[in-house]
Amino acid sequence: MTTSVNMVVAGSTVRVLVDPAQTAAPGVPTLGPSIGEYPCYDAVSYARMTDDEERNQRFRAALARLAAGRVVLDIGTGADLLWARESVRYGARQVFAMEAMEESFQRAGAWLAEPGTRERVTLLRGVSTELDISPKAEVCVAEIIGSLAGAEGVAAVLTDARRRHLTPNAAVVPARCVTLAAPVAFRRLFAGGPVAFAADSLNYLKTIFEWHGAPFDVRLRIEHPARDALLGDGQVVEFLDLNGQLPLEQRQSVRLAIDRPGVVDGVLTWLRLWGLPDGEPLDALRVASNWASIYFPLFDSEHPVEAGDVLDLTVTSTLSEDGVHPDYHLAAVLRTAAAGTRSASHSSPYRGGAFRNHPIHRHLFP
Ligand SMILES: C[S@@+](CC[C@H](N)C(=O)[O-])C[C@H]1O[C@@H](n2cnc3c(N)ncnc32)[C@H](O)[C@@H]1O
Repeated sequence: MTTSVNMVVAGSTVRVLVDPAQTAAPGVPTLGPSIGEYPCYDAVSYARMTDDEERNQRFRAALARLAAGRVVLDIGTGADLLWARESVRYGARQVFAMEAMEESFQRAGAWLAEPGTRERVTLLRGVSTELDISPKAEVCVAEIIGSLAGAEGVAAVLTDARRRHLTPNAAVVPARCVTLAAPVAFRRLFAGGPVAFAADSLNYLKTIFEWHGAPFDVRLRIEHPARDALLGDGQVVEFLDLNGQLPLEQRQSVRLAIDRPGVVDGVLTWLRLWGLPDGEPLDALRVASNWASIYFPLFDSEHPVEAGDVLDLTVTSTLSEDGVHPDYHLAAVLRTAAAGTRSASHSSPYRGGAFRNHPIHRHLFP
């Protein structure tokens, strides 16, 4: 059962379609806005990261190899001062921890009372691009990785960090990450359940809209999407080598092969991340972690497809006005044996842009 609720944003009312029964639960598809790239971290989202063992074991393995005796920089340490404390535990000589959000910075400060942490960690409030440290760090933990890998601005943040905060051969954790995409139809991702925002995602939606000053077509984050909605394997549409060439903007073109009959109206994207270059990657679609998947609409309606059809997809990321967070642009051509070709495109700016532009956004904001 869905219902619509009124949300007041900057003096205007926005109607939002909600499923009151839908809350984040293991295995149940749930819908919310993509949140990692916006200043809406709270105790719940930090707890989910601090308790994310799939993620944490990979980061710990990297620190176990890299931290001992070194100067470490933790960019975006969060309310739990997590990777700064873990760096100390793995023998770091000195640690700098930076946190942009005031409330998170204050909460992180409480951890400095711990013996060992107090002596070695310097906690700095602000964004890494505006802070300075000395000496330079030999290891950097940059857990500013989104469900859409680059959405939190890691390419620009690390480019600046390499220039000002890090030694020439500094190692970065995670080692690399990619975003994959596969053809899907939005409704099928909910396995027959209601297609509406989860009740506990509304406060994030409101925070994002208020931060911007108006509603806009947010990126759609789906936890536990129905895996059988994917009509083919994922292909890499964004590549971030945090220890190699890291372009600020990129364009990737892939051919997504459809391997069984179904319907398509867009693509599902998700993260694959390596803590160490030679480690086992975390695939956010295959293991439970704090990362979810992001759906991008392309076509205005569902198109039938058969095995052997293809979706040619180009994903471009360009820097948004703030010079850090990317805007994403998708262009696609669906080539089917039965109905020929159809083209579509979709723009997903970091901030602002259209509101209720696509039928799916009109459904969610009635
Ligand atoms: C994904 S959370 C990670 C929190 C924690 N490090 C962890 O791994 O559990 C990202 C955090 O980085 C902060 N942040 C994002 N970009 C930043 C930057 N350039 N400088 C400082 N903090 C940043 C956010 O406010 C948020 O607290």
